[in-house]
Order: sequence, then structure tokens, then C-alpha cells
Amino acid sequence: MGLDVSAVRAAYPALADGYAYLDGAAGTQLPAPVIDAISGAHRSGLGNSDGAFPASARSDAIVAECRQAVADLAGGNPAGVILGPNMTTLTYRLAATLAKDWRPGDEVIVSRLVAVTAASNILGTRPDVAAITAKARAAGALSYVDGVHATPHGPTDVAALGADFYATSAYKWSGPHIGAVIADPALLEPLRQDKLNPAPDTVPDRFEWGTPPFADFAGVTAAVDHLAGLDATAAGTRRQRLLTSMSAAHEHEQALLRVLLAGLAAMDKVTLYGNARNRTATVYFNVAGLTPRAAAEHLAERKVNVWDGDNYAWEPAGALGIRDTGGAVRAGLVHYNDRSDVDRLLAAVAELAG
Ligand SMILES: Cc1ncc(COP(=O)(O)O)c(C=O)c1O
Repeated sequence: MGLDVSAVRAAYPALADGYAYLDGAAGTQLPAPVIDAISGAHRSGLGNSDGAFPASARSDAIVAECRQAVADLAGGNPAGVILGPNMTTLTYRLAATLAKDWRPGDEVIVSRLVAVTAASNILGTRPDVAAITAKARAAGALSYVDGVHATPHGPTDVAALGADFYATSAYKWSGPHIGAVIADPALLEPLRQDKLNPAPDTVPDRFEWGTPPFADFAGVTAAVDHLAGLDATAAGTRRQRLLTSMSAAHEHEQALLRVLLAGLAAMDKVTLYGNARNRTATVYFNVAGLTPRAAAEHLAERKVNVWDGDNYAWEPAGALGIRDTGGAVRAGLVHYNDRSDVDRLLAAVAELAG
């Protein structure tokens, strides 16, 4: 059937404030089941890990369910799902761990390890990750794929991508602020990350530091369940429903993207950046004579949330020659955006650039 955007939107309390939330590439809103799962976990009583009493067992179950949910979303093995506060923290820790074995004389390509993004968070460009990881593997290098921007916009299959490590952030796909890295547990087994002596030494637990936010993990699981239900007709296992629903989300976003791109391209004073055919529904543009912040402020007055700046996409913004002039305006579509969001953005930009 595809995605019924009215039904999807109804699940998101925040959308009732009347703003067009086109800021999803920097973080999505939470649907009610995710909010309820987080508060429900707290209400049920939680304990720290590995205790003899039920509240502790509830926390341990939440962790296991969260690993399974993230594995279902990405097509990985729950035993290789490392959870943490965000993608950046997990990536820095793993980079330090991987680099422990590197010796003087080891070649740095980006160090024997090929790091690549699955989608640019400003231009939306989706590189051919599978081709890149295949070349890396043929050369004996590992691959680390940044799936933070890609994951919310379509089905993910870490095996098909050939990713040795795949990083994602739940707050980009309707979950709370939690990051995850998915890897083959056998690959993690020989890696020794710094840890406290009494902390678990098993994989993936030894990659996770300190006491985790258990209730947020319950929210991650609820977010994956929510994504699996985006297409109400999706059937089968959660993994199968995720593939169907994320395909429906992709189709929905791409249809809106076509309208958005055509509308912006028709405005003389608008410069659009990025023209990849295979891209997420993310647009990056400037309006002649206006700083990106001034344009974003005008859009905010019209109740349209967009980002301005380089959005940490430092290299591409530099390559475009706009890093030092405030970057550009970024509008990103996710599954809960609808045609009225796009129309409102276009009308507001037309006031500046018509
Ligand atoms: C493509 C991409 N990679 C990585 C990150 C960093 O993710 P986190 O905020 O979870 O550290 C972001 C955040 O916006 C992103 O868009």
C-alpha cells in the first residue's frame, strides 16, 4: 500500500505545533510510542545490569531487545551491535581501538581503514558504498561506513553494503539520542578497547562504557518498531516489515523531493548544490543576496524549520566554496513530512527569490 502520511503524522505529537519540520537531517521528532516506551521503562522500575532482582533483569532485557532491534534495522547480528551515546563518540573510541595495532610504516589511506559515508547530510549524495567496500576488502582494508544520514531514508543491509562497521544514530530515525555501531562479532573479538578491569569483557559489552541509559534503549526499540509499521500493510518478521516500510518511506520522500527540487530550480535567485541521481531527500541551497542564516530566519517566521551552515559537512562545504560564508540552507524530508511542508517551504523561499 505504501505510506499513509496522515496516519504517520498523527503519531508525532510535536508536529501539532504547526511548524513544517524540515530539520530532520539534524534530528527527527519522536512518535508517541517512543515517548511512551521511554517513560514506561522508567515507570516499570529499572535497575543496573546483572543483578538478582527483577528491575535489573528488565534493564538487561531492554539492552538485548535494543541490540536485536538495531540489528533488524541494519540487517546485522545483534551480538555485534555496540550501543553508545552517539555516533561520534563510538567512532572516536573505535578509531582509537583500531589504531592500536598500527605501526610506523603502516600506510595511511585514511589509515588502512577506508571510511566512507553512505549519504551526505547536506547534498544527499549516496556513493556506491558496495563498490568502495569491495575495493577496500580486495586491498585487505577494513571499511567503516557512516550510515547516520542514510539509515532513515530507505532500507539498510550492512551485508549488501559490505560494511565491516556501520554507524547509525537513532535520533535521526525517530528515536532518542543513542548511537550504534554494527559489526560482525568475530571482527570485534580481537579488538581490545580500553576498559575498567571489572567491566564485562565480552563482545559487544566491552565496547560500551559505564551505565547506559536503559530507558532510552527502550525508546530505540520502539522507534524501530515504529519504522517497521510505516507501511501499515507490511507483513512478516520485523526485518521484513522494515524492508517494506523503509522502501515505502523512500518512495514517499523521493516523490516530495521531485516537487521540492523542481520548485527551487524554477527560482532564478536560488542556487542549488548537489545533483546526484541517487540521493536522499535532502536539499542544500542559497538565495542570492541573503546569508543562509537570514534565509533560515525568514523561513522560521513562516513556520518552516530548516538548518543553515555547513552542518559539519566541512569538506564538501569547503569544496563548494561556501564554508566561510555561512554555508547554505538545508531542508531535509523524512517519512513524516508531507506536501504541505514542501509547499510552505517553496512559498516562503519564493518570497525571497521569486
Ligand atoms: C552524516 C553524519 N555523520 C555523523 C553524524 C554525527 O552523529 P552523532 O550526532 O550521533 O554523533 C551526523 C550528525 O548530524 C551526520 O549527519
